[in-house]
Amino acid sequence: MSALDQDRIVAVIGSGAMGAGIAQVAAVAGHTVKLYDTRPDAVAKAIADIAKVFGKLVEKGRISGADANAAHARLHAAATLADVAGAALVVEAIVENLDVKRALFADLEAIVGDDCILATNTSSISVTAIAAGLRRPQRVVGMHFFNPVPLMALVEVVSGLATDAGVAATVHDTAAAWGKNPVHARSTPGFIVNRAARPFYAEGWRLLNEQAADPATIDAVVREAGGFRMGPFELMDLIGHDVNYSVTQSVFQAYYNDPRFTPSVLQKELVDAGFLGRKSGRGCYRYGDGATTVPPRSEAPQARPEFVSYSADAGVQDAATDAMARRLRQAGIAVSSRKPAEGHASAEAPAFHCNGAAVYLTDGRSATERARANHHPDTVLFDLALDYASATRIAVACADQCDPAAFNAVVGLLQAAGFAVSRLDDVPGLAVMRTVAMLANEAADIVHQGVCSAQAVDTALLKGVNYPRGPLAWADAVGIAHIVTVLHNLAATYGEDRYRVSPLLRRKHASGGRFHE
Ligand code: NAI
Repeated sequence: MSALDQDRIVAVIGSGAMGAGIAQVAAVAGHTVKLYDTRPDAVAKAIADIAKVFGKLVEKGRISGADANAAHARLHAAATLADVAGAALVVEAIVENLDVKRALFADLEAIVGDDCILATNTSSISVTAIAAGLRRPQRVVGMHFFNPVPLMALVEVVSGLATDAGVAATVHDTAAAWGKNPVHARSTPGFIVNRAARPFYAEGWRLLNEQAADPATIDAVVREAGGFRMGPFELMDLIGHDVNYSVTQSVFQAYYNDPRFTPSVLQKELVDAGFLGRKSGRGCYRYGDGATTVPPRSEAPQARPEFVSYSADAGVQDAATDAMARRLRQAGIAVSSRKPAEGHASAEAPAFHCNGAAVYLTDGRSATERARANHHPDTVLFDLALDYASATRIAVACADQCDPAAFNAVVGLLQAAGFAVSRLDDVPGLAVMRTVAMLANEAADIVHQGVCSAQAVDTALLKGVNYPRGPLAWADAVGIAHIVTVLHNLAATYGEDRYRVSPLLRRKHASGGRFHE
């Protein structure tokens, strides 16, 4: 461990939302903290606000009164920038503007000692660019916390081109000593989380734009089947569409308009209208007086089918389909095992047969396309779930040529197993599969391009945005071969470079490897 000793002074510049949180965490960890801001009274307000937080933590028994008082006594206002002279680590959390940050770091270099580390909490500016032109650019590093700082465990430790590896290691270990979960990243647009999480929002917008379902239904599927805490639309309403749209735009522009990151015209409309989400009373949903909660759409109850079989011996099964079969059997549904019918010799055997309907896990083709390929008009697809044993909802789609009675039999089957069933229009990849495949694709490219390790990208999404599982671990669980097939089929359907398969996913598929052994 090369963490800063507790007796070294930490300075925090900028005492807004982030600076106050960073100061609180550093003080609780035992450091004397000097807090500076150009705005009159901002520091006093931040220290008073932290005192209130400590009061609540003491009430809840999370921290003793003595520890809270001691931590509070370690917080000091710096009247001028020169007062941070003795700091071993300065964390900058001022306005997100390159020129202002550069000017601050140049001023700091004239004040602090040569071995003082200069860290920036920037979420979107290149650490390399902030350090450029300084006398000692090797001591500049990103220390990117997430909001609210005391609650979010992730810290991205971002190295620019000039950053000294020892400096990054010290900041990493110091963040760990402060109780955080740090990960190393190379300074690239969006660092890890703000890049890796883009598909979560982007695929939501794509689904909405293609009229797969309304926001409430897509959100419910992503939450109840995908296991995410919130669906994309309710989350963006919380973040604010102005903020979310501007992050998407900045990542899109920084990657020279890579279609992977294309912003959505639907979100632009919301921003143009001033429908920014919760904070303005309207976003994808309405809030405030008189607003009613929109329920997700679920299929009406259907009869339990008489006949269900599972092609367990046909070589079509995968981990997800096996888990679905277990859920059906655990619900007391008699699922017979069957070998593929003669007629399927040249086509794919369905995973399940249900009163004549052929049922498959989505592979990134539409049900309609798959029905034609397999000469089985009554084709129904089901979506990925994080955990089929406990999911409360599942999304399905059926082929345009499917007999409604056959579709209803599949709905009845899934309802008998305890799922609420949400029918999406016949979009390729459905909702959870498509989102997870694109998250894994982006995560794989991040690793492929040396931004961070596979472990780091999964940790970043677990701890920085609370995903239920790291996307690369999820790809391992679904099977990399299946994820590659989904992406390949999405790419073929849309003919867009957006769905191109990451070279690292292809390579893992070809070698039979996994991201996490
Ligand atoms: P904020 O607007 O709440 O606070 C910024 C503070 O910096 C203000 O009190 C302002 O008076 C002060 N300030 C501005 N210029 C200054 C200067 N030259 N010297 C000293 N103080 C100065 O902003 P917030 O949200 O705390 O963000 C701060 C930084 O953290 C930005 O770089 C932002 O991108 C980054 N960040 C923000 C996150 C968020 O969710 N708000 C998450 C992660 C990073």
